[in-house]
Amino acid sequence: MNETQKSSAGSKIEFVLRDYVRELPHYDGDLDINTDTETPPAAVVEMRRELSESHAIIIGTPEYNYNIPGGLKNIIDWASRPFAKHSLIGRRVGVFGCSPGDRGGKAAVEYLRNIVPLLGATLVGQELLFPKINSLISPDGKIDASVMSPLYELANELASELAN
Ligand SMILES: Cc1cc2nc3c(=O)[nH]c(=O)nc-3n(C[C@H](O)[C@H](O)[C@H](O)COP(=O)(O)O)c2cc1C
Repeated sequence: MNETQKSSAGSKIEFVLRDYVRELPHYDGDLDINTDTETPPAAVVEMRRELSESHAIIIGTPEYNYNIPGGLKNIIDWASRPFAKHSLIGRRVGVFGCSPGDRGGKAAVEYLRNIVPLLGATLVGQELLFPKINSLISPDGKIDASVMSPLYELANELASELAN
């Protein structure tokens, strides 16, 4: 899904919403760089291309057992290879958490905020948590302004480098 929004800086921001969780196999180095052809699965190649062509990335996550869900960890594992030459290096990355509980995925977000710089990306924005997220999305899919407005702020912050 593509969505174009006007940023406060006046430039257009295009959001590309992606959920790679169901598209990627479980990380396996033998499928990645150690095969005869050295060709990773097509979904991995496509994801790495999209990430490397993006100006910035926003990762939104729920929390599973006080960490990010395994599906998101798998995406990060694929994205973080080949070592030192991968598609996250130099990306500007924002992170937010959301969960039906009271903490808004705090532990998952703390984990992500710790590893983003370790992966060679630049962490942008303050800690952003949306507790009780199920009460902030209406049955017809409308998302409350208390969620959307900090997300637009984060998007503007991520885009600010481009506006300069
Ligand atoms: C295995 C599992 C572990 C969970 N652990 C946590 C947790 O540690 N903290 C929390 O706030 N919510 C936890 N939840 C609730 C999820 O955050 C919530 O179900 C969320 O809506 C899941 O989003 P998803 O359906 O997109 O995966 C857990 C849910 C599951 C299925």
